[in-house]
Amino acid sequence: MGFRDLLKRSVKKAIGRDAGSKPAAKKGRGALPAGAVAWSERVTDTKSAEVVVDGVGVAVFRVNGRLHAIDNACTHEDGPLGEGSVEGGVVTCPYHDWRFDIASGECLSHDNRAVGCWAVEERDGAIYVTGRTSQGSTERGGAHNDGLEVITKNLDDE
Ligand code: FES
Repeated sequence: MGFRDLLKRSVKKAIGRDAGSKPAAKKGRGALPAGAVAWSERVTDTKSAEVVVDGVGVAVFRVNGRLHAIDNACTHEDGPLGEGSVEGGVVTCPYHDWRFDIASGECLSHDNRAVGCWAVEERDGAIYVTGRTSQGSTERGGAHNDGLEVITKNLDDE
């Protein structure tokens, strides 16, 4: 056995397959049906999805098994609501903790700062966001709830 064979064996052992062979095909369901934004299993009660519909970021959630879709951009400073934590049908923005009712889009942290809602449905194991049902606030900015303003102010004072 020459050096080249030893090297191949070593590589094969390290990556768990024959060196030079193609990697195993990724398991999956293939392409989404036309118009679908995600496979159903991608959105669970503990896992949301951020998708783009007509050029707009939309966060899709499942609450007690029922799907809901709202604008992904928080009405405070555009934080990604789809990456927020969810509890009791309320998503908390990961940036500064503003809270939104997932079913209605209502902002629970600030008056008149609802996010827009979207119609969403599920067919044959896939999720479809079919259109806007409400417009969200176009205002941005406002108080932070996480103390960052105080930290920033303190840093500027030094
Ligand atoms: S960007 Fe969402 S709370 Fe600030």
